[in-house]
Amino acid sequence: MDEYLINLRHFAMKHTEYVHKTSAHYSKQWGQDLDFKTFIKKNPEAAAVMPGRLLPWPSLIDNIRRKAAITKTSVYDAACGFGDVFVQLSIDPCPPYLEYIGVDLHDGLTTLENHVQATFQQGDITEKIFSEERFDYVICRAALHHTPQPRETFRTLVTQLAPGGTIAFSCYNKKSPMREASDDALRSKIVPMEADQAFGIARQFSILGKDLQNTDGKIQISDDLPFLGIEAGTYGVQEFIYRYFLKCWYNPNYSEDHSDIVNFDWYHPPFAYRYDLDEVVDWIDDCGLKLVRTATIEAQHYLEAEKGK
Ligand SMILES: C[S@@+](CC[C@H](N)C(=O)[O-])C[C@H]1O[C@@H](n2cnc3c(N)ncnc32)[C@H](O)[C@@H]1O
Repeated sequence: MDEYLINLRHFAMKHTEYVHKTSAHYSKQWGQDLDFKTFIKKNPEAAAVMPGRLLPWPSLIDNIRRKAAITKTSVYDAACGFGDVFVQLSIDPCPPYLEYIGVDLHDGLTTLENHVQATFQQGDITEKIFSEERFDYVICRAALHHTPQPRETFRTLVTQLAPGGTIAFSCYNKKSPMREASDDALRSKIVPMEADQAFGIARQFSILGKDLQNTDGKIQISDDLPFLGIEAGTYGVQEFIYRYFLKCWYNPNYSEDHSDIVNFDWYHPPFAYRYDLDEVVDWIDDCGLKLVRTATIEAQHYLEAEKGK
């Protein structure tokens, strides 16, 4: 694994370098300084705009909780991040038969709350961590697109899913051609930076987003412009630029640092693939799984599938 090179348009990277850079990025993003998990816990209105709340994740979590209330239910949360999926799964009363394992690369897993029904371990989800097809649920929320070969990683996750089990993942949606081009150009400059420097740069995107949000006036697009990926409609200035030209996230419910996190999360991780829904549905067909549910928002797709018994 260490030997292959991933060639992107702008740079090539060894697997070991990818692991190191991704871990450094998310160790900062989820670390004690920025304390994203406490911020989300204390600010439900901030949490409400996250794709993890907008896509059908809450409904999947309800299904798992219902099952784990009556029978042993094992969950592998691949790339568990700051532990939000377990927080949702274990809301009081925690289902008694839930057995949860979260795996991620970053250094902050030991800071997540201890719970007898949860294990958090540091590891690389591109590798087969568990030898058998053993989990009732495999979850990979907003992380496959950060791995060097997402389709391969997905296949690897499927090998750890029990017959009859459910796999669910979300991944970035493709944007307009102008957004795609500016994302790639800016990422090619920001990805090589160290995490602290990139985090500092992220502030500029937040300030731009904030100032554009404070700009009066509306942009009216009279017709769909399919070549440009622009839909007819009326847009606020920041909304229009954000959606079609440049990611510059800002939300008044977030502190400055926490707005910066969202921009940092977009521009600095080494890999951030974007997909049309058809492309990722194909991964499911390819593994012989049954697609049971999809959903799409501007930012991401959600897919849920079952393995035959
Ligand atoms: C955007 S975060 C999503 C975290 C979490 N799944 C959630 O939805 O809250 C992406 C996560 O993927 C993790 N990640 C990326 N590549 C990984 C890999 N190869 N192995 C384990 N974790 C990885 C990062 O460390 C980060 O925590």
